[in-house]
Amino acid sequence: MRRDVLRMLKESDGPVSGRVLAENLSVSRTAVWKHIERLREEGYDIGGAQNVGYTLRSTPDRFSVEELSALLPGAFTGQIVCLNELTSTNDEAKALAAAGKLSPAGLVVAESQTGGRGRFGRPWSSPRGGIWMSVVLRPRMPANAAGRAALLAAVAIAEAIKETTGLGAKIKWPNDVLIRGRKVSGVLIEMAAELGLLEYLVIGIGINANFGVADLKDVVGATTLRDELGRPVDRLELLGRIVDKLLDAAPGLAHDFKPVLEAWRRLSDTIGAQIKLDDGVNVVSGRAIDIDDDGGLIVETAPGQRRVFRAGDIS
Ligand code: BTN
Repeated sequence: MRRDVLRMLKESDGPVSGRVLAENLSVSRTAVWKHIERLREEGYDIGGAQNVGYTLRSTPDRFSVEELSALLPGAFTGQIVCLNELTSTNDEAKALAAAGKLSPAGLVVAESQTGGRGRFGRPWSSPRGGIWMSVVLRPRMPANAAGRAALLAAVAIAEAIKETTGLGAKIKWPNDVLIRGRKVSGVLIEMAAELGLLEYLVIGIGINANFGVADLKDVVGATTLRDELGRPVDRLELLGRIVDKLLDAAPGLAHDFKPVLEAWRRLSDTIGAQIKLDDGVNVVSGRAIDIDDDGGLIVETAPGQRRVFRAGDIS
């Protein structure tokens, strides 16, 4: 019932009177008032003027299943898990997906992570105020095309940041999102497959949002959206847009990947740059020429000599 009161306040352009709320929800005006008080305790800023009604002024900067499900597109028919703190949203998403849950899709969100993981097993500092989320999708495609999801996620994040904040985000191969050359977001893709066919994909996304870069532990070369803008961002809106974009493009991962590749190239900070690439075995230098159809980086390592890298870290 509290959620119905909130929904009516959100859907209305102006104040809603206690009488209208009570009539629509078939409860007494005292009951409406009690629900409003509970919502205020939860952090919703609700104005109330006699003979005018209640106005929702702002929602708390906190994730909840209710807020997330109201926000996500109709296309998201999956399950939402939202926790205050956990080890890693990717670990939670993988455990649930392996147990047959989060089908046909799922979203795991946490306010903070105690064991956040980055690429190559690195720790990922995840204080409160960030966006730490894992999206589980089950697109029908060969497992070896899963790397494409990493590029798709980076495009979704960079575009959503631009649309919600106006900040110009760029992508460093394969999927770091940068603002003014500093990392604001990273992506960790994990998956399960059987006989070469993808079973599920876990797209782990971390965004340094509403905290200062000083809150990050042992991290260099990073920035946060709050530091860049000088004010906090609407984390819910940003998250919603990212999920929206992932859902839109995921069905095409196997056969219609061109639009994502084009968007990635447009947003790239890597193509054309002189780079050093560490693929875990060797460090090679050269000029980044392009990406291939699966997102591999084509590097000119010597005049007329090109090599394609499927994974690695560049600087
Ligand atoms: C990287 O750039 O190294 C990838 C970082 C990915 C971090 C996110 S935060 C949500 C999800 N849960 C994790 O433990 N990691 C990913």
